[in-house]
Amino acid sequence: MKSFYITTAIDYANGKPHLGHAYEKVLTDVVARFRRLMGDEVYFLTGIDEHGQKVQQSAGERGITPIELCDEAAVAFKGLCASLDISNDDFIRTTEDRHKKVVRSILQKLFDQGDIYKAEYKGYYSKRAEQFLQEKDRDGNGEWPEIFGEVEEIAESNYFFRLSRHQEWLVEQLKTNKSFIYPRFRAKQVLEFLKEPINDLCISRPRERLEWGIPLPFDEEYVTYVWFDALVNYISAVGYGTDSFEKHWPADFHVIGKDILVPPHAVYWPIMLKAAGIALPKSLLVHGWWLKSGAKMSKSTGTVVDPLDLIDQFGSDAFRYFVTREMNVGQDSEFSQERYMSRYNSDLANDLGNLLSRVLTMVGRNFGGKIPGPRIEESLELELWTLWKDTQKKVLDLYGEFQFHSGLEKTFAFISAINRYAEQRAPWKLAKSEDPEDRKRFETSLYVMTESLRLAVGLLEPVMPNTTDKVYDLLGYTKEADWDRRLLRGDTLVGQEIGEKTILFPKPQMES
Ligand code: MSP
Repeated sequence: MKSFYITTAIDYANGKPHLGHAYEKVLTDVVARFRRLMGDEVYFLTGIDEHGQKVQQSAGERGITPIELCDEAAVAFKGLCASLDISNDDFIRTTEDRHKKVVRSILQKLFDQGDIYKAEYKGYYSKRAEQFLQEKDRDGNGEWPEIFGEVEEIAESNYFFRLSRHQEWLVEQLKTNKSFIYPRFRAKQVLEFLKEPINDLCISRPRERLEWGIPLPFDEEYVTYVWFDALVNYISAVGYGTDSFEKHWPADFHVIGKDILVPPHAVYWPIMLKAAGIALPKSLLVHGWWLKSGAKMSKSTGTVVDPLDLIDQFGSDAFRYFVTREMNVGQDSEFSQERYMSRYNSDLANDLGNLLSRVLTMVGRNFGGKIPGPRIEESLELELWTLWKDTQKKVLDLYGEFQFHSGLEKTFAFISAINRYAEQRAPWKLAKSEDPEDRKRFETSLYVMTESLRLAVGLLEPVMPNTTDKVYDLLGYTKEADWDRRLLRGDTLVGQEIGEKTILFPKPQMES
């Protein structure tokens, strides 16, 4: 069976991981976990992009070698994945032999076919974007946009990849293959870019200017342009040229930020693959940016939020919840500490955490720690079960369309409904009543609260896997193999022994 193959962009090795990198990994992980729960065999790749001028320069400034810098970055980014509970199957580094071999073999193939030629290059180059620029990249005032940083003019002999001969094919491809770019509105941006003739792509840098790269197989005086090198990671990691390649390729999703859609992923990559005779990935899932005070959070503007601080303070599930709940995948989102605290306190600590504490306390106190069974069904119970059915269906549909923020909103609306049910039933009052009907209601209410809590956390599993497992454990629930079954209402909890009272999301001591 072919795997469901999903990738993140590979992060530049010359910076510390920040919220933007962490978000992309979480988003990809949520999709990966969701698909696994839906029964797919998932293969999830992430990694780092280690070559290029920026790495060489940063290493030089620090007085270390580029590979030493990359080794440090590999530890930091792998550490980020571990802290975030990312379920990746592989982590690729572009300095690995398995990668370099494939880059060189693709280059040789394209060169032999006549797709690569040598010529004089004169033009502009952005070090920050590691990208050659064209006049049309200037803004309305004729300036280079901020995102390119310092732009230099260069003139040198280089190797070029014949991009332009595939322009018409690509336009056709983007027009007919409606699922190639998600969200769809981003495809318009690509078509806009392709309205003008595209230049052939300069894919080399002379070694005297840049040492830190993969030497061209047909001219060792040059190294490979970093984007040409980096994009190939998606196929080198899954064994391009070996039997295992077919098991994974084509990728189902490349998850990327909007800044690297045009031209790298939507223009260079499809054309590179087409020219090399390799199938295109099925889809690019393009997310927006995390902003700080309205601008893209990035190392170069000094506005980064360190995800590790937030994880240390609030735990990985809370971080995963926040970024998934706040970001509508197609759009940008502003980060603020206040917003983070407010989601943490109101959704996690109060709505979810207090519900669990309440249930554990009441079952512990009144039923010797064993969950009672349903004895009566009245309109309050029926309403809640109807809401559950509706929630479950809608949330799965929303997750399937990458509307995770709305899926979480619906799930938490259901959790609020359980809390409302508890207020209306008021089991703490029923406990004191002498009426036998009230006794039935009392037992039923605790069954309903525990069972609906179990169901709700089932839907949270792709986003907050630790919380789901912890709650299951505290409710004495042994996970059934199929997700479908876990999301079905039943009486599996009846008679189960609950765990010790636990605070799921402790309120942190904040400095004022
Ligand atoms: N190395 C290239 C990608 C090569 S992929 C073959 C690169 N690296 S990066 O470190 O700059 O960015 C890695 C990913 O993080 C990109 O998808 C980028 O969009 C994402 N983010 C970086 N900053 C971001 C935000 N502020 N917000 C959300 N994601 C952003 O580009």
